[in-house]
Amino acid sequence: MSAERMEKKKTLDLRKKHIGPSCKIFFSHDPIKIIRAKGQYMYDEKGQQYLDCINNVAHVGHCHPDVVKAGAQQMELLNTNSRFLHDNLVLYAQRLQDTLPDKLSVCYFVNSGSEANDLALRLAWQYTGHKDIITLDNAYHGHVSSLIDISPYKFHHASDTELNQSVHVAPSPDVYRGKYRADHPDPATAYADEVKDIIHGVHEKGGKIAAFIAESLQSCGGQVIPPPGYFQQVAEHVRKAGGIFIADEVQVGFGRVGSHFWAFQLQGEDFVPDIVTMGKPIGNGHPMSCVVTTREVAEAFMSSGMEYFNTFGGNPVSCAIGMAVLDVIEKEDLQGNALRVGRHLTRLLEKQKEKHPLVGDIRGRGLFSGMELVKDRLKLTPATAEAQEVIYR
Ligand SMILES: Cc1ncc(COP(=O)(O)O)c(C=O)c1O
Repeated sequence: MSAERMEKKKTLDLRKKHIGPSCKIFFSHDPIKIIRAKGQYMYDEKGQQYLDCINNVAHVGHCHPDVVKAGAQQMELLNTNSRFLHDNLVLYAQRLQDTLPDKLSVCYFVNSGSEANDLALRLAWQYTGHKDIITLDNAYHGHVSSLIDISPYKFHHASDTELNQSVHVAPSPDVYRGKYRADHPDPATAYADEVKDIIHGVHEKGGKIAAFIAESLQSCGGQVIPPPGYFQQVAEHVRKAGGIFIADEVQVGFGRVGSHFWAFQLQGEDFVPDIVTMGKPIGNGHPMSCVVTTREVAEAFMSSGMEYFNTFGGNPVSCAIGMAVLDVIEKEDLQGNALRVGRHLTRLLEKQKEKHPLVGDIRGRGLFSGMELVKDRLKLTPATAEAQEVIYR
């Protein structure tokens, strides 16, 4: 029976029976069954059109014809693993490199954001020979075991004995409700000094820092824009301790921030991470992701003597799709669009702030923008139920 002809209730019943109960569903009171999508719209089984305000993956629009065509054409011709020579793999790596600082020149293609961040940790451990990782409070970096360990967003409720003792949590550089706020004379230094203190603490206990990992702008962690200069200072402390800097661009990369292609570039040209991880929009829905690093880190990974093999990562179909996504971003000036539409959206949201005391803060860059709801603008009491209602509507 075709899925489209199945009654919604039957789909839900089968889902309850066969799909793990921890896999949540949107709008659980009355779940929406989506059967097709085009551009910015999704359609349910009755033809009802929805404007998709949730997706952070369909970067160039759902089912973009150029992307679909690139995938289909390559699928008709060949799909295999990256142990064979193939032009798509090297040309795509070159295309990605063109968007990045020269130093970030070596790619590993993988299949999901989680896989990319897990590999980034392996690279860091191998390159530095160290073990300890510093992550930010409220961070989420993926669902595999190594990443739950560095994702306070997920492990908040864990007991001390369950926590990985080599993971250290630095305060989120949130100047709205964090430890140091916009009225602080130098929040970048204050937050970076917190990282420096953690490094001292680790050294005192005989540990050594392998890496600091952060999203270039924290997404699930609360739409946090780090103060300018924060990453430069953190990188200095971390590198002095022999560690490296991993920038997670899984949510915020590929021009979404409008003014730059990568969100770490918002911190200034003098900041270059040692590893950048990419995912979500990279394939516009096709499961693929990438880790980009320096030649030095890649050579150190090689020196372990262990081959890195990934069955699907970097296959010709994924690379064709990845290239088509980059082409569309360029051809349709989607980075410029993110800047222009993002500015417009921010202006509209600012008007809501003037009208409603519930709106505490509007913040973001380009089309990575958000609104924080509070019950009290001075105490910043979270308006959780109200926020949930707004999201639902
Ligand atoms: C910032 C960030 N990193 C990594 C991941 C993990 O990506 P995936 O779900 O593709 O494994 C996510 C997913 O939400 C994410 O938001």
